[in-house]
Amino acid sequence: MMQTKTDHFTDEDTEAAIAYLSGTAPRNSIFDRSGVVEIYENELAAFHGRKICILMSSGTAALYSAFFCVGIRSGTNVVGPALTFMTTVTPAALLGAEVRLVDCEAETCNISHAGIEEAIDANTRAIIFTNMFGHPCNVAVLREIASRHGLPLIEDNSLAIGAVRDGYLTGSSADLVAFSLGSTKLFSGGQGGGLLCDDPDYADRALLLGHFGQRAQIQCSKVASRSHAYCGYGLNFRMHVLAAAISRARFADRERLFAARRKRYEIVAERLKEFDALRLPVETEEVTRGAWQGYVVSLREPSITLRTQMIAALSKCGPFAKFGLYYPSLARSLSLYKNQVQSMGKLSGANQAERFSFSISPMTVEKIEDVESAADQLYDVLAPIFQ
Ligand SMILES: Cc1ncc(COP(=O)(O)O)c(C=O)c1O
Repeated sequence: MMQTKTDHFTDEDTEAAIAYLSGTAPRNSIFDRSGVVEIYENELAAFHGRKICILMSSGTAALYSAFFCVGIRSGTNVVGPALTFMTTVTPAALLGAEVRLVDCEAETCNISHAGIEEAIDANTRAIIFTNMFGHPCNVAVLREIASRHGLPLIEDNSLAIGAVRDGYLTGSSADLVAFSLGSTKLFSGGQGGGLLCDDPDYADRALLLGHFGQRAQIQCSKVASRSHAYCGYGLNFRMHVLAAAISRARFADRERLFAARRKRYEIVAERLKEFDALRLPVETEEVTRGAWQGYVVSLREPSITLRTQMIAALSKCGPFAKFGLYYPSLARSLSLYKNQVQSMGKLSGANQAERFSFSISPMTVEKIEDVESAADQLYDVLAPIFQ
């Protein structure tokens, strides 16, 4: 059975950390923008074709910063997906806003366009979307909706760095893009995240929020912002320099990592493709490079009998596969914010995805031979149900 490592660090990560500590990789002062932080931010901004990248202590800190940048507060609302990791929206709730949850499309689990239009009202101040499990949303349509309503568009690109749709790289065109560089992400440094944008006013607010002191003093574009640099809004969202060094080394090795991840998922898809009742992750025509951070398989037709059989079968696969989604629907999980969360309609797409799907480990670091034997085991437990 495939072992799931607890911290997901690799031998290459160890080398990157040693290179940083021994001074063979560029070091920097913790408080300003220099060394590995400056270099990696420039690389990430250039890769995405953006003017500004600010590394953060987590994807959640980047999302909090994005909502803060666009003025989310009490009396406003944010329209976002019912299916996503909770911190795609919890920072907006913490800032006092109402969160309006919109249903998802069955095939990709991405936010429904029609649902967004219906959720927007006079108090809406932002639309946020997540490229679910690596499949890029149609950002051209989302941008059109946002600009028609005069709203900033925020992208949570934690699951799809490097994915391409209609020739657009994810993260290249929303007003603000937040992403995680932590946990099991392909470019994980253990903990970390980033914020991308082109607007220097957004950057000033994000710097004053979580990067006060020398960095805000040097980098804020406005004199008025710099005059508050000493304390700013007073939070600390800086990414740890060792995490930045590890993440940067993975990013430099990205073509190999993209190819290795693709290979892992092809192995799984190959084993599962003969089970017609299962819907495997789609790569629609427009998507030339899906990112597949996570692999979700669902039943084409909901069936309680098959669901019961699959739960029993998958319990034999250890941590490699589990019944259900990586994330439960937000409509049920944001209990501390229940007075601020509004479900737009019945959320039948999200409920169905949640009740009739299973999830396979993100497989960003596992050895190919381990994936092969885990996929064989998956085939063996599912075959009696579907053949
Ligand atoms: C879609 C999504 N958004 C945001 C986050 C939060 O990132 P972090 O754990 O770095 O705070 C995650 C983390 O798993 C995620 O999957």
